[in-house]
Amino acid sequence: MADTKIHRASTTAPVNIAVIKYWGKRDPKLNLPTNSSLSVTLSQADLRTHTTASCSASFPAGDSLLLNGQPQDVSGARTQACFRELRSLRAKLEKQDSRLPALSKYPLRIVSENNFPTAAGLASSAAGFAALVRAIADLYQLRESPMDLSLIARQGSGSACRSLFGGYVMWDVGLEASGADSKAVQVAPAEHWPEMQALILVVSSAKKGVSSTTGMQTTVATSSLFPARVASVQQRMEEMIAAVKERDFESFGRLTMRDSNSFHATCLDTEPPIFYLNDVSRAAIRVVEGINAKAGKIVAAYTFDAGPNAVIYFEEKNASAVAGVFKSRLSHLEGWAGKGEGVTASATEGIDE
Ligand code: ADP
Ligand code: DP6
Ligand code: CO
Repeated sequence: MADTKIHRASTTAPVNIAVIKYWGKRDPKLNLPTNSSLSVTLSQADLRTHTTASCSASFPAGDSLLLNGQPQDVSGARTQACFRELRSLRAKLEKQDSRLPALSKYPLRIVSENNFPTAAGLASSAAGFAALVRAIADLYQLRESPMDLSLIARQGSGSACRSLFGGYVMWDVGLEASGADSKAVQVAPAEHWPEMQALILVVSSAKKGVSSTTGMQTTVATSSLFPARVASVQQRMEEMIAAVKERDFESFGRLTMRDSNSFHATCLDTEPPIFYLNDVSRAAIRVVEGINAKAGKIVAAYTFDAGPNAVIYFEEKNASAVAGVFKSRLSHLEGWAGKGEGVTASATEGIDE
């Protein structure tokens, strides 16, 4: 009998904000990075992608993706790579057990929603592709581990490989030309450092002018500062892993701010220059500098992805010194808070200058 059933699986995925940034591809086709990176996965109670994957022999031909209600082009090599790899894993299962329905042959329908700004430097591609890969893997009842799935998510968007894990996650640059070892590894779970908090300052929810993909490829092609960044980042990675393991916030914070500044310096050194930070972002940097000067040590650390929105890391014991100062300077506080597999984040919008 023909299988006309609609098969479906839904999942959510968290965003992750890197403290040692991925910026640069050594192989754009396989999405292999020029350096290892390390991120903190934020609580899904705050920022998350929700994705449903369905497939059916009764669907019209062709795969589709609806993102925040808008049809997306799925013909791009990155989305195609994810679909292809997941289908081939499913086809293997179907070969082993002929009773399984031939889901690998059915059109895929993906429906996804981000509950936070898309393409604004808050890692929507990370949560987005992690959710897409996990939803299809669940739909296909694959037995692959999160590490195996990270190799597939990486091909959708590099930063997505890190969103398959909670806590502190490294994306290993890998040595192999095939990309087989360029995967995500958990350095420590969120519970390792329960004091860690993140405050998200939504400076702008507008779509960025230069996508991360285009931006980093232009930087690699034109910036003379870029090779110096790559040469110094491995040392910083090692120090960052040690800081996380030892829960040494001063080192964690110093390295986080240095790496963010190093990344944005290479953006400015790109031709034509890329400006992800704006005046409000710079005001946030000054606020953090002021908080740390007053404390006499590093109790707050800012970092910015490819956009103007600030993420401020701090420890719970310093919440009033850090979040308190920001809140007193910010308007329209949304107060998102909660604990999940990642650290707690709260988001705010706007700044009173
Ligand atoms: P961001 O800083 O938000 O990660 P990027 O420029 O890296 O911005 O990527 C944004 C792109 O990622 C979007 O234009 C879209 O193609 C893709 N994306 C974002 N969210 C999703 C999602 N939920 N599912 C699939 N793709 C997504
Ligand atoms: C600044 O992962 O979005 O956020 O692989 O081209 O999709 P693509 O790029 P993406 O780049 C993220 C850049 C970053 C730093 C980071 O997350 O490590
Ligand atoms: Co992105």
